[in-house]
Amino acid sequence: MKHLIDICDLSTEEIDGLISRANDIIAHPDAYSRKCAGKKLATLFFEPSTRTRLSFEAAMYELGGHVIGFSEAQSSSASKGESVADTIKVVSCYADIIAMRHPKEGAPLVASRVSGVPIINAGDGGHNHPTQTLADLLTIYREKGRLSDFTIGFCGDLKFGRTVHSLINALSRYSGIKFVLISPDELKLPSYIKKEVIAKNGIPYTQTSSLEDVIPSLDVLYMTRVQRERFFNEEDYARLKDSYILTPEKLVPAKKDMIILHPLPRVNEISVSVDSDERACYFKQVLYGKYIRMSLIMKLLGIN
Ligand code: NCD
Repeated sequence: MKHLIDICDLSTEEIDGLISRANDIIAHPDAYSRKCAGKKLATLFFEPSTRTRLSFEAAMYELGGHVIGFSEAQSSSASKGESVADTIKVVSCYADIIAMRHPKEGAPLVASRVSGVPIINAGDGGHNHPTQTLADLLTIYREKGRLSDFTIGFCGDLKFGRTVHSLINALSRYSGIKFVLISPDELKLPSYIKKEVIAKNGIPYTQTSSLEDVIPSLDVLYMTRVQRERFFNEEDYARLKDSYILTPEKLVPAKKDMIILHPLPRVNEISVSVDSDERACYFKQVLYGKYIRMSLIMKLLGIN
């Protein structure tokens, strides 16, 4: 049985296969409307979500399947002290596949060890978020026509931003990729990722705190929210939260075909006046997230 806990659980061929299936779903949605008839997806969200949970649910409905689940830990038996392992053993009796989000790093891995059905990590603490990465890859592929040979700038909270960690992992296998890491000193990319992923794969990268200095060199700009819920104190958050605010003026020196991504939710880091710029792709990214999750659910359920 296959789970998706970390983006490294998928080979490059499998990622490419998921993207090509998602492209086919976009082209022929009717052909997929009964693929998961009679199947149930459980969405177990121990941490808040709008897009990830709803896109999993919409994906399963569009495949003709059903959805059960909860959207907050308070409404589940976790609030009575039930362990993640026990909750998963129970839900495996009701559902064919489980998507779960948890504030503790590693909780989906624990779940996968006891589950009778495939587990999808829908975000674990400040660690990983592999399905957002699949949505990001599909967006880059559809907008740029390739997943190789470009420079991508990650801007904002690179320390706690789990979507950044997973996307760096995924892109490190494609050729001709360069990373530009843009963050305040306190929110730099964890050194284990620099060592074990970037350096190990020989990917060229630079680090800076100035978005202005590097924006002209970027093909993709990946903006992120400062992850308030992972901070130990509110003062640090208040000091760092507005470190970067992308505005139309700051985009003037950027390439005309640069694309702007953001996993959302956005707080202040992209001014709403950027939304009408044709380089802004973050709402398309939301839509592609649903299609790639359709593709993933089918794969993990072994449906063709
Ligand atoms: C992201 C997450 O939950 O990590 N959101 C999402 O799933 N699209 C990013 C964030 O919360 O900042």
